[in-house]
Amino acid sequence: MSQKTIVLGVTGCIAAYKSCALVREFQRAGHRVKVIMTEHATHFVDPVTFRALTHEKVAIDLFDDPADPIHHISLAQEADIFLIAPCTANMMAKVAHGIADDLLSTAALATTAPLVIAPAMNVHMYEAAATQENMKTLRSRGVKFIEPDAGYLACGDVGKGRLSEPTDIANAVIALFDEKKDLVGKKFLITAGPTRERIDPVRYITNDSSGKMGFALAEAARDRGAEVTLVSGPVSLENPAGVNVIKIESARDLLEACKKPFEACDAAIFAAAVADKRPARMADAKLKKGQDDDLLGHIELIDNPDVLATLAANKGDRVVVGFAAETNDVLANARRKLEKKGADFIVANEVGHGKAFGTADNEVWFVSENGEEHEPAASKRQISDAILDQIVKRFR
Ligand code: CTP
Repeated sequence: MSQKTIVLGVTGCIAAYKSCALVREFQRAGHRVKVIMTEHATHFVDPVTFRALTHEKVAIDLFDDPADPIHHISLAQEADIFLIAPCTANMMAKVAHGIADDLLSTAALATTAPLVIAPAMNVHMYEAAATQENMKTLRSRGVKFIEPDAGYLACGDVGKGRLSEPTDIANAVIALFDEKKDLVGKKFLITAGPTRERIDPVRYITNDSSGKMGFALAEAARDRGAEVTLVSGPVSLENPAGVNVIKIESARDLLEACKKPFEACDAAIFAAAVADKRPARMADAKLKKGQDDDLLGHIELIDNPDVLATLAANKGDRVVVGFAAETNDVLANARRKLEKKGADFIVANEVGHGKAFGTADNEVWFVSENGEEHEPAASKRQISDAILDQIVKRFR
């Protein structure tokens, strides 16, 4: 990989010493690091340390380089990645609100490079509504966060707020340089999460899907440049920034919400765990024990539309991907679904007994008319990228 320039902002936090190790990590990977320190950061680490490590001037003050009177702009432009690690609650608030009152906040506002923030602070400051709101704002603008670790904090509290380890920060940043942009100009439709099929206003039939797989797919496709519509059932995940999210409840809602984006898309991935059946009638009022025992005890179920099969019937040139979540005979069931649903390939995985649903990791097989490919257990994000690689191969 060619050498990149990382502008590393260091703020006034006890974890500032870890930034020295971080500089080393980037250098080991062959990159150049230029450090900007806030005035407060210099109370924790002497600028001479960074100067010696980076062999570059350490920038602190807006006016401390007479040779370059607008070096907040030149520093901002030099960055291939602009990283603030550790980032205090104060610096995060300034960046979120466009306050530019020192060199680091000014350069962060002026940069057009991807901005990455690794927060470090007391757990209560981290959890404070103001900090969480600021993070949400920044995320929605595409800022990437390297979440702090949980553990024993310098102040004596225990909880989330400890700066992530330098190797983890460096790996996450270096991975951004590798990020493919092979989906620019492509439109994706992705379904995610469970559906809810109402029995009455307070009861419904649903399943264990957390939506994590579909959301990870949406984020991966977005990061590779695609325009993504994510149609999701009820989940407790935050909407991914830069993705068009449509929230639905039932299988019928899902089908309706998918029709237009399907027409416009180049690829559709059906990761939703759709309820196959729904109650034939939804009661208008809450069914009562004793009074409505007959209705509660004998809920008549009727078929829901098969969203994937319905849309794939007119798939044209689109690449269509289905999932098969199975507790047993994974490959045989996946092959049956491939034939039944008209998808280009099926991502098969085992569920139940603590597997797949709600977990961070997944192990899958790609089942297509060409056979089966095994993708060993990896994070849902890595599996997402492997699925997208399979789709890219099929684009003409
Ligand atoms: N699917 C769908 N609409 C449905 C049911 C399933 O779009 N009504 C999609 C899912 O999103 C998934 C694929 O079809 O991509 C397979 O889903 P799954 O629930 O595993 O299969 P079913 O068709 O429900 O088959 P079975 O109940 O036999 O497992």
